[in-house]
Amino acid sequence: MQVLEQQDLLELIYHKYGYDFINYAKPSLYRRIDKFIADNQLESINNFHRLLMYHPEIFQLFLKDVTVNVTELFRDPLYYKYLREIIIPRLASYPIINIWHAGCSTGEEVFSLCILLKEAGLLKRARIYATDINANNLEKAKQGIIPLRTMKDYTMNYLQSGGTEDFSEYYTAKYDMAIINESIRSSIIFSQHNLVSDHPFNEFQLIMCRNVMIYFNRVLQERVLNLLHDSLAPLGYLGIGLKETLAFSEVQPKFETISKNLKLYKRIA
Ligand SMILES: C[S@@+](CC[C@H](N)C(=O)[O-])C[C@H]1O[C@@H](n2cnc3c(N)ncnc32)[C@H](O)[C@@H]1O
Repeated sequence: MQVLEQQDLLELIYHKYGYDFINYAKPSLYRRIDKFIADNQLESINNFHRLLMYHPEIFQLFLKDVTVNVTELFRDPLYYKYLREIIIPRLASYPIINIWHAGCSTGEEVFSLCILLKEAGLLKRARIYATDINANNLEKAKQGIIPLRTMKDYTMNYLQSGGTEDFSEYYTAKYDMAIINESIRSSIIFSQHNLVSDHPFNEFQLIMCRNVMIYFNRVLQERVLNLLHDSLAPLGYLGIGLKETLAFSEVQPKFETISKNLKLYKRIA
């Protein structure tokens, strides 16, 4: 019997289901494939390959598991402090503020921004799109539910981001869950979008695509950076993850660096 490799599996997924994981960073992706096979007792990559050919529901399970979904409210508080003090006041001049969170996971990032906008009196003027490849993440995000045990750390993050309100006013505690208030979430449009294969769908004054490209190889990072550039309005702002970079990218000359440490950029061309 032919011994299949992870690469063959990625080719099958691409041709059968149209999801292109071929240019994801390999070590992390391969670890997740192996873990999926072990967790679901699929025994071997050959067996997984065979199941994928005939059982689309296995692919849906895999899709739920394959992405790294780690996120936080006010992750990297100094980044949000900068948004609060420098970027958001600049957005105030637009009658409608279009914002895109690309790779929003379970919503913590977009809820954080909505809190900043609310405190700046701009939430009602904002149209906020939050997208992810993983439908399971989006379902959780739509419900606005966060484990209650994490809220102590998130309150610290909020305070470090310069927040001065009573953070507990932004959610309701229920059993072991915190539910972010509907008034914070109601301006968000959640939808599925694949950064690898889908196209620009609007023009934005601010795009946040944080801790997503870190899982892609250089080819894919370049493709996504071009997509993000094309989706920004002239003078629009882009925020990427602290471990990500525009350096070495062909789009770099089209951006002015606003904060080198916090990875915030402005489209200038
Ligand atoms: C580590 S989380 C980052 C969440 C959030 N941006 C943050 O920084 O806290 C990465 C997210 O990227 C999403 N993702 C991975 N590949 C994607 C793709 N091709 N298109 C859109 N989202 C993708 C994953 O599903 C996951 O929710």
